[in-house]
Amino acid sequence: MGDREIRVLVAEEVRDFLPHVQVPRDVRIEWLPAGAPVPAGDYQGLLPLLSRRVDADVLDRLPQLKVVANHAVGFDNLDLPAIRARGVVASNTPDVLTEATADLTWALILAVTRRIPEAERLARTGQWVWHPTLLLGLQLGGRRLGLLGAGRIGQAVGRRAVPFGMEVTYWDRERQPQFEEEVGARRIASLDEILAGSDVVSIHLQLSEETVGLLGRRELGRMKDGAVLINTARGGIVDEAALCAVLEAGKLRGAGLDVYENEPEIRDCLKRLDNVVLLPHIGSATEDTRRRMFQLAWANLMRGIRGEPLLTPI
Ligand code: 8YV
Repeated sequence: MGDREIRVLVAEEVRDFLPHVQVPRDVRIEWLPAGAPVPAGDYQGLLPLLSRRVDADVLDRLPQLKVVANHAVGFDNLDLPAIRARGVVASNTPDVLTEATADLTWALILAVTRRIPEAERLARTGQWVWHPTLLLGLQLGGRRLGLLGAGRIGQAVGRRAVPFGMEVTYWDRERQPQFEEEVGARRIASLDEILAGSDVVSIHLQLSEETVGLLGRRELGRMKDGAVLINTARGGIVDEAALCAVLEAGKLRGAGLDVYENEPEIRDCLKRLDNVVLLPHIGSATEDTRRRMFQLAWANLMRGIRGEPLLTPI
């Protein structure tokens, strides 16, 4: 192979999925361990996890780079202007994780409204006594779901609300007529209004300059008393200190979080509260979905190094 060899850097954490793709004979993979800096070299492709920031500093070490194939649908870890300025193309992994993430969102909705972790902890003590007021939760039928963001995942979460008998509302830049028709969803143009009117608020937005800290003290204060906040998108969209304050004040019934401002750190105040359900960023963590995410990221990587159109460009 010698000098015709194409070198690519791939996050070591996805190594187990390699048997699910074909590696062309002229491609040489070098595994990039978590936490290790990106080495300088003539690599033509990079397949990073979300936890790796790809910015000018990284790009300067990779002068031959042609493609960044992100192993995530979110791409807030990529400095897109810096990537584009160097003529590098980038991709993400949409669609393949939509249903898994929507399922997990519902797992959180049910866990918080029916107090499942709290109940499970009590059951394990063996000290419980049945009583008609034991661990009463919120009935979902007839209640209102407010989706912040009605892209692929938001819509999939909304579709699942129908059999639960929930009314579906959404806040999105654009109207989604097909979603409205299919689910009976109603668009609410004002953030304050959807926050004030929803029993369950679920976040499905990208993290960007526009959405960072979107739900601060004022916005969380606008939520209905006894409502529930669910976040399976990005931690940075919610001001966590403000969330702690409204939860500690008893304004909200509870919160279900899969993502955090500063992962893997989780604030003590969140860990202390019984009505907060905490998950370690497992929205897309099913065997099928993780395999498909890698296959899609890999396919983009292979196309990018050959200068072919990407399957899911950003
Ligand atoms: C992944 C995610 O767990 O795709 C995303 O944006 O947040 C999750 O699906 C993670 O990105 C894996 O790299």
